[in-house]
Amino acid sequence: MKTDKDNPKGISRRDALKRMGLFVAGAAALSMPTALTSCDNEKKKRIILYFTATGNSLYIARQLADEETELLSIPQIVKQGRHDFEADEIGIVYPIYGHMPPNMVRNFIKQARIKAGYKFAVLTYGMLDFNAAELWDGISQQAGTKFDYINTLVMVDNWLPNFDMAEQMKMDKHIPEQLEKIKADLGQRMRWVKPATEEARRAHDGFVAFSRLDPEVGFLMRSEKYFQVTDACIGCGVCTEVCPRGNYELTSTGVNTEGDCDFCFACIHNCPQKAIQFRSLPDDPLLARGEVNPNARYRNEHISLWSIKESNRQ
Ligand SMILES: Cc1cc2nc3c(=O)[nH]c(=O)nc-3n(C[C@H](O)[C@H](O)[C@H](O)COP(=O)(O)O)c2cc1C
Ligand code: SF4
Ligand code: SF4
Repeated sequence: MKTDKDNPKGISRRDALKRMGLFVAGAAALSMPTALTSCDNEKKKRIILYFTATGNSLYIARQLADEETELLSIPQIVKQGRHDFEADEIGIVYPIYGHMPPNMVRNFIKQARIKAGYKFAVLTYGMLDFNAAELWDGISQQAGTKFDYINTLVMVDNWLPNFDMAEQMKMDKHIPEQLEKIKADLGQRMRWVKPATEEARRAHDGFVAFSRLDPEVGFLMRSEKYFQVTDACIGCGVCTEVCPRGNYELTSTGVNTEGDCDFCFACIHNCPQKAIQFRSLPDDPLLARGEVNPNARYRNEHISLWSIKESNRQ
């Protein structure tokens, strides 16, 4: 298994950046499609695109990658304005939010031109995936890209309003077993979309109605409405680097947050002081009861803070 901890000194910075899609050999690489490599041994070229806030999806993306795989952070490629991707196999890994993709991932797929003989998607989640695979099938096909394989994988649930991270981290969700199954499916280039039941579709529709979210948009909030920074802040600047929207700023009077927000929770989970808290919002359907445990935060045990920053920094 490849983790940050296996290699405490880290792979070379150049290799690390290359694997995360952050190393660009000349400006042309920003706009050019990724060329197929003509390897002597005919090794298949795989690209994996990912979005992550607390590391689960990055961990899975890394587990599905081999030495030749190009790992690309969606916030970074959005920042670069890159839309063209070509390889033998292209995968996408993202966390589901209300069973839907993050808003940034949804907008990304609408603009992307993805050419590959085999396309797969692995959606990480924490408790209930309902019709998440089917929703991605619809969204991506509407955007002109059909994925051959869409599956989900259950991990720690980082949704703070309902879950205590200390409890979540104690649960064994059998991640290695799920991963082995997905790897075997991908090895056979299985064509399959995890089916949804009528009950799951109804439950998703119920969630959308309850949450008052627009199903065509998903979670797109305003960070100044939901988050506040307490006196525990030490001005370390982590929040300014882990937010995929670049919504945090260190000012002369403290830390300010403002802007369209995916509600990914990278800021609130990764603040080392637990100084980012939800505002009191008694009328908000999702936050009316605040959060379960303001003293428990989560980052995937295999993923370093450095990797989250490199994935999301704007
Ligand atoms: C805004 C938001 C909504 C979420 N919605 C769901 C959900 O509908 N079902 C679920 O099982 N998990 C849900 N989760 C949990 C995440 O999908 C899960 O923890 C994911 O693995 C986190 O991935 P990451 O560590 O790569 O950010 C939600 C998390 C957030 C922040
Ligand atoms: S990450 Fe937390 S402690 Fe660091 S500057 Fe941001 S709010 Fe302050
Ligand atoms: S403000 Fe926080 S929750 Fe919103 S996009 Fe940035 S890191 Fe994610």
